[in-house]
Amino acid sequence: MSDYILENLEHYFKMYNKSVRSPKKFWSQIADENFTWCQKWDKVLEYDMQEAQFKWFLNAKVNITNNCLDRHLANSGDKTAIIFEPNDPKEEAQHITYNELYVRVSKMANVLKDQGIQKGDRVCIYLPMIPELAVSVLACARIGAIHSVVFAGFSATAVSSRINDSSCKMVITSDGSYRGSKAIDLKGIVDEALENSPSVEKVLVVQRTGTKVNMKEGRDIWLKPLLDAALANNVAQVMDAEDPLFILYTSGSTGKPKGMVHTTAGYMVQTAYSFKNVFNYQQNDVYWCTADIGWITGHSYILYGPLLNGATTIIFEGVPSYPDFSRFWQIIEKHKVNQFYTAPTAIRALAKESLDFIQPYSLESLKVIGSVGEPINEEAWHWYNTHVGGKRCPVVDTWWQTETGSIMISPISFVTPTKPTYASLPLPGIQPVLMDELKNEIQGNQVTGSLCIKFPWPSMARTIWGDHQRYKETYFTAFPGKYFTGDGALRDEVGYYRITGRVDDVIIVSGHNLGTAPIEDAINEHPAVAESAIVGFPHDIKGNALYGYVILKEVGEALNQGNLAKEINQLISDQIGPIAKLDKIQFVSGLPKTRSGKIMRRILRKIAEGDFSNFGDITTLLNPEIVEEIKNGKV
Ligand code: PRX
Repeated sequence: MSDYILENLEHYFKMYNKSVRSPKKFWSQIADENFTWCQKWDKVLEYDMQEAQFKWFLNAKVNITNNCLDRHLANSGDKTAIIFEPNDPKEEAQHITYNELYVRVSKMANVLKDQGIQKGDRVCIYLPMIPELAVSVLACARIGAIHSVVFAGFSATAVSSRINDSSCKMVITSDGSYRGSKAIDLKGIVDEALENSPSVEKVLVVQRTGTKVNMKEGRDIWLKPLLDAALANNVAQVMDAEDPLFILYTSGSTGKPKGMVHTTAGYMVQTAYSFKNVFNYQQNDVYWCTADIGWITGHSYILYGPLLNGATTIIFEGVPSYPDFSRFWQIIEKHKVNQFYTAPTAIRALAKESLDFIQPYSLESLKVIGSVGEPINEEAWHWYNTHVGGKRCPVVDTWWQTETGSIMISPISFVTPTKPTYASLPLPGIQPVLMDELKNEIQGNQVTGSLCIKFPWPSMARTIWGDHQRYKETYFTAFPGKYFTGDGALRDEVGYYRITGRVDDVIIVSGHNLGTAPIEDAINEHPAVAESAIVGFPHDIKGNALYGYVILKEVGEALNQGNLAKEINQLISDQIGPIAKLDKIQFVSGLPKTRSGKIMRRILRKIAEGDFSNFGDITTLLNPEIVEEIKNGKV
C-alpha cells in the first residue's frame, strides 16, 4: 500500500499512528513520492511554537505549477483540467485541457514578467469566477509573484486596504462580472480603490461583460492583446520551499483583516494529499467545489489540490438561485459531477426551497458530498445526505481554516464512517487536542474544550503579512506551545470531533457554558424555521441570557409568532435543557452575513444589547440593508 492513499480504516489508523510517532518521516515520504522537485530538502522541519516560527522541507526547490501542470502533460495533456460553467446557463461551458491550461498560464506568466512583475512582488487579483482567475493565480505562482486574491464582492474600501497592507504592484481585474441577474462594475470599484492605493503601477483588465470602462492612460491595459502576443511557453521560476506563495486576508474578531501568508512546498504537499484522500478522487472523476477562489476553500480545493492531482475541476461563475434554485442540480447532471463540495449556508437555503427544484435532475453521478465553513446542523446534514447524496454518498464535513491551508479534521470518503454533524477524525499528520480553562490538555473522550493543534503541519500559515507579533499573539499565546484555533469542540465516546462553533460565540448562562450551534440546531428542527442565530445579552440574574433571531420558511408563519416562540423554546428545552431557553425571540427576514456566508454575530450581539452605535464597517456584508430591519424590530 502506498503512504499517499488511505485504503481503509485500518490503514488510516496505521498511517495516523505513524504520523504522530514520526511526523517528519511521514510527511517526507509523502513529499518524496508524489511530487516533482527541482531539489529535495535537507531537513524536513524546523520549528519553535513559542516564537511561531515554522519551516518545512528546508532548502528544497520547487515550483507548484510544475506540479499542477507540466508533469501531467505527458500522460494527461488532453484531459480536461477546468470546466468553466458560466453564470448564464445559455452560454456554453468551456472545457480547458491540461495542455491548453499550460499554454494559457505560460502566456500570462510571460505577460506579467513583461509588465515588470518579478519574484516576490505582490499582485492583487480581483476577478469574477472565470478561467482568467485561475490562470492569473497560477501565472503568479509560475513566476514567483505572491498572489493576493480579493473576493470580487468586496467594496472599494476593502480592496484598497488589502492592496495597501501588502503594497501590491499590480491589480488584475475585469470590466465587470455577472452574478445571477446582476452585472457588477468591477473596474469601477478598482478605480475607486486605487484613488487610495499608490503602490499599484499597472492594472490588467480582462474583458468579460463588455461594459464601457475608463482606462487610465499609462496604468490600465487590456489583457487580451498582451496574451495574444505572448510566447506560449515559460520556464517556471525555481522557488525555495519557504518562499511565500500567496497572501489571503481573513477577518479577525478585532482589528483590520489579517493577511495570512502561505508558503510553497508545505502547502503543495498537504493540499494535494488532503484532496486526494478526503474526496477519494479517481482518475476520470469530475469534481466541483462551489466556493469562490477568493476564499481559502477555492485556493486549496478548486485550484491547487485538484490540479496537483491531475483532476477535472469545475469553476462556476454564478449563484445557486439563478435562473432558479435548480441551478446546482442542473450542473451536477450536466457535467456528471462525482464529488460535490459546498457550504451549510447554501444547503440550508436550498433545503428551504421545494424539492421540485431537485427532483427533475439526475444526481446519480455523485459519489461524495462535502461541507465546509461552519458547523452543519443536524437537519441540514440529513437533508443533504438524503436529497443530494441519495444516502449512498459519504458526507464529508471538513473542518479547517484559512490559517490551516488544508482540511484538518474530516471523514475520509469510504474509509471513515460518518456521523451527522461530526467532522470526525483528524487527517494523518494532524494532532488536535482539547484544552480546558486552566490551559491543561483534556484527556479521554466525551469531553469538550478549546480546540488546539499541538504539532506543526506543512500547510499552516507562516505569519501575518507585516505583523508577525500579531500572528504569535493571535494563535500561539492563549495556550503556550500550541496553535489555538479559536473554535470549541467536543470529542465523543469514540474520539470523533464535533466543532461547536467559535469559542467567542460561547455564552455562559447562569454559570453554564452554552455553544450557539447546538441551540440553533434545536431551533432549526422546528418545521417552520429556516435559519436562526443566537447571541447572549446581559441579564441581571443569569449573567447572560439568550436572544434568538429566527428566519421563518414562510412569511405567513409570522402571524402565529406567540405560539411559535413557545414551541421553539419547548424544542430547546427538550433537546438541550431549560437552561438553554431563549429569553427573547425576534423573527427576521434575514441575518447579516459576510460574503462567505458567516453570520456577523458581533452586530446581532450589539442589537440584542440595545447598543445601536458603532456597528463597524457593514459595507462588506452580503446584505447590509438587513441591519436596519433588525434594529427596528428589536424586542
Ligand atoms: O469556526 C470554524 C469554521 O470556519 C472557521 C474558519 O473560517 P475560514 O478561515 O473562513 O475558513 C473557512 C473554510 C475552511 C473555523 O475556525 N468552520 C470551518 N469548517 C467548519 C467550521 N465549523 C464547523 N464545521 C466545519 N466543517
